[in-house]
Amino acid sequence: GPAGEAGAPSERSGRQAETLRSHQWYGTEGLRTFSHRARTRQLGYLPEEHLGKPVIAILNTWSDINPCHQHLRERAQAVKRGVWQAGGFPLEFPVATLSETFQKPTPMLYRNLLAMETEELLRSYPVDGVVLMGGCDKTTPALMMGAASADLPAVFVPAGPMLRGHWRNETLGSGTDMWKYWDEKRAGRIGDREMGELENGLARSPGTCMTMGTASTMTSAVEALGLTIPGAAAIPAVDSGHERMAAAAGLRIVGLVNEGVTLSRYLTRDAYEDAITTVLSLGGSTNAVIHLIAMAGRSQVDIDLDDFDRIARKVPVLADVRPGGRFLMEDFYYAGGLPGLLARLGEAGLLHLDRPTITHATMREQLAGALVHDDEVIRPLDNPAAEQGGLAVLRGNLAPDGAVIKHISAEPHLHRHTGPAVVFDDYRTMQRTINDPELNITKDHVLVLRGSGPLGGPGMPEYGMLPIPDYLLKEGVTDMVRLSDARMSGTSYGACVLHIAPESHVGGPLALVQNGDLITLDVEARVLRLEVDDEELARRRAAWTPPPERYGRGYGALYQEHITQADTGCDFAFLSRPGEVPEPYAG
Ligand code: FES
Ligand code: MG
Repeated sequence: GPAGEAGAPSERSGRQAETLRSHQWYGTEGLRTFSHRARTRQLGYLPEEHLGKPVIAILNTWSDINPCHQHLRERAQAVKRGVWQAGGFPLEFPVATLSETFQKPTPMLYRNLLAMETEELLRSYPVDGVVLMGGCDKTTPALMMGAASADLPAVFVPAGPMLRGHWRNETLGSGTDMWKYWDEKRAGRIGDREMGELENGLARSPGTCMTMGTASTMTSAVEALGLTIPGAAAIPAVDSGHERMAAAAGLRIVGLVNEGVTLSRYLTRDAYEDAITTVLSLGGSTNAVIHLIAMAGRSQVDIDLDDFDRIARKVPVLADVRPGGRFLMEDFYYAGGLPGLLARLGEAGLLHLDRPTITHATMREQLAGALVHDDEVIRPLDNPAAEQGGLAVLRGNLAPDGAVIKHISAEPHLHRHTGPAVVFDDYRTMQRTINDPELNITKDHVLVLRGSGPLGGPGMPEYGMLPIPDYLLKEGVTDMVRLSDARMSGTSYGACVLHIAPESHVGGPLALVQNGDLITLDVEARVLRLEVDDEELARRRAAWTPPPERYGRGYGALYQEHITQADTGCDFAFLSRPGEVPEPYAG
């Protein structure tokens, strides 16, 4: 018969086959091993194709319904190419796709589900190393959380941003310009024809949102952690460089397995601090606050809101990318991408450069030749887009456990503001009534949305950029102070106070706000205050009744019982706590 059919265990090569995790499945002498070998023959592989070689799982979040990942099905072939070249044995695992655009109520509800799937697949199968393929918002933190808990050798392959949007000779940013032109339509300045053209031009290639939304913020954070091929995060999804990066990741993961280096080597406090610095310098998405706290929690590294505020005060915003700035990810890539930006942060002494990365080189060595080719897109240290990182952590009687605001995307006159509250108990009520002139909302009012946190939403939907009432838009009002226990899309903007903790659903003070109460926002002082005295608040608290539980069964019930609040990352408590998980018995 064909070569190899008679392959016996003694013929196995591989200098460290016995030390591979997959050896437990393939290398011992028992009945189970015979069965695993027979079933691998059933898959069509010769013994020489895999025995003794590192098994590399490729976790792929590709799906027909995820436009951000539509190229990943094909891209996995490039990863496999690299794995084969390096002497590994690649196996692709399709995992849950979390499509920010389509999944309701929000993919945030399912981030921890993908994290669990990631961890448990890696544990339960014969896997020696893993390549994680994701990018659309929640997929990156989910894959990272699960992989950090499984603690195998790992390389991340970011999906990469889509090309710039185009409309009538204008450049369009996904999300950001969708909101903008939707407001133009609501104000009657453009019509159906224009909307039809915009529909065609907004997102015109595979890839993640090409603004500095949650996708590019999080893939950049993972690159800053040192877990990608250098420069990977900004490569446009359809650039041939993206395919080469995928092949390089396949080559490198086999090396990591042979060296026996697992993720925990890289996921140190220094690395997470640098990821925060990077996110802030990118003017990145507020979602990163929740995700990085959750990821660090899986590494048993204690990162909290105060770390973000402390780091934000010393980190300039260097990326001039929308929604905070002018350009798009494609421009950022041509300007030098993340290595260019990191090199500048390194020069300023803002990074821990002697950290190891998956390339073998330290971050310092990795960034040695990095250049910036366009100072408009990646600003020099002496001409930053903003002097301080774009994020502030607010506290006060309305947010005892904190809240965040991305103040660089808010109109400066609102950084310090006191105004009367207009309260909406949930998103649907807000949608129904926001444009009702009877509410008499003025530009000085503070729009308050509750019932939108981790439990209330559920899943903290991206409701935080509450719409400005039509009649105020027509008067030319472009920003207002808005508060919620929700998140906000990374592509959104405005004076939106987000992630208020504890959320209203669990009785946080947000639940006690009434129409007309004065609320003070003071970004400089980091204060969010309800101007109502303690006695009155105590009276209101005594009269407050918790909402009924939403889920009687299913994943929602699991979520409801274990989800933590925004300030601790919205992980499930049983996933983030320290503890041992035994390896399965495979023989
Ligand atoms: Fe997928 Fe924005 S919708 S990255
Ligand atoms: Mg988004």
